[in-house]
Amino acid sequence: MKTVRTRADFRAAREQLTGPIGLVMTMGALHDGHAELMRAAAQRAGSVIVTIFVNPMQFGAGEDLDKYPRTLDADLALCEQAGVDLVWAPAVEDVYPDGPVAISVDPGPLGRELEGEFRPTHFAGVLTVVAKFFGMVRPALAFFGEKDYQQLALIQRMVADLDLDVVVSGVPTVREPDGLARSSRNVYLSADEHARALALSRALRAGVSVAADGAGAVLAAARTVLDAEPGAAVDYLELRWADLSSIDPVAEPGSIRHHGPARLLVAARVGSTRLIDNIALIL
Ligand code: PAJ
Repeated sequence: MKTVRTRADFRAAREQLTGPIGLVMTMGALHDGHAELMRAAAQRAGSVIVTIFVNPMQFGAGEDLDKYPRTLDADLALCEQAGVDLVWAPAVEDVYPDGPVAISVDPGPLGRELEGEFRPTHFAGVLTVVAKFFGMVRPALAFFGEKDYQQLALIQRMVADLDLDVVVSGVPTVREPDGLARSSRNVYLSADEHARALALSRALRAGVSVAADGAGAVLAAARTVLDAEPGAAVDYLELRWADLSSIDPVAEPGSIRHHGPARLLVAARVGSTRLIDNIALIL
């Protein structure tokens, strides 16, 4: 496995790789969720490139840009283990040589909902850096986690709407044995906060367990679990269709029932840490 820092070194190393290139973009502080994306890429691509870049443009004022965990040595060991061919860990100046960009990607209406309501500039920062890395890396395939389901949906929409020549695949969420979705931000949690954070995945499972009873039952069951854990301050709990379009509130029992793949999504603050999670279900 090769590791490079500058744009010039990356360009040279990129030319040595063979076969269709699979890209896994990360912000480092890597864990088994990231490794799962790398393993998926290694299975389906000829060569795997991982980028490690904490993208300032996707952090809002007062968010955790400065304290975001940085663990490069351990990250490189994890990449090597997962079968990665090339790691590119550029500096901010390599990615934004002229400072902040003048032209950026507008995430559209979906970018203002769910996470976008609480992080108004976040998805413009994400989509812009993803478009930049697609341009610099020119991958045939790119892999993103369902953990960040709205991010995945927006990237797929960007690729379709802007005719970008890359196939984007989603990879299921990797969880800790107790159910907590793996996240680089989990290191911020004390043992007590970790215990409170379990309410998120518990609420999602409670929702799924009553999916046969319809959307109202799903939301009520998940809400009951969240209400029982005052240590998790909920930003939103929403049930959407799998493409994140809205579900009409279910009317009286016996009225027309909607059917199809859906997604239950939750965001909550536990102490000063903001966590998100989501789960698939069939309505
Ligand atoms: P980061 O949070 O480091 O996540 C990098 C990739 O790993 C994303 O596609 C994310 O969805 C995936 N991932 C994180 N936790 C996961 C888990 N528990 N199971 C499966 N996949 C998981 O997401 C970002 O960085 C950034 O926004 C980025 C796309 C790199 C742009 O800066």
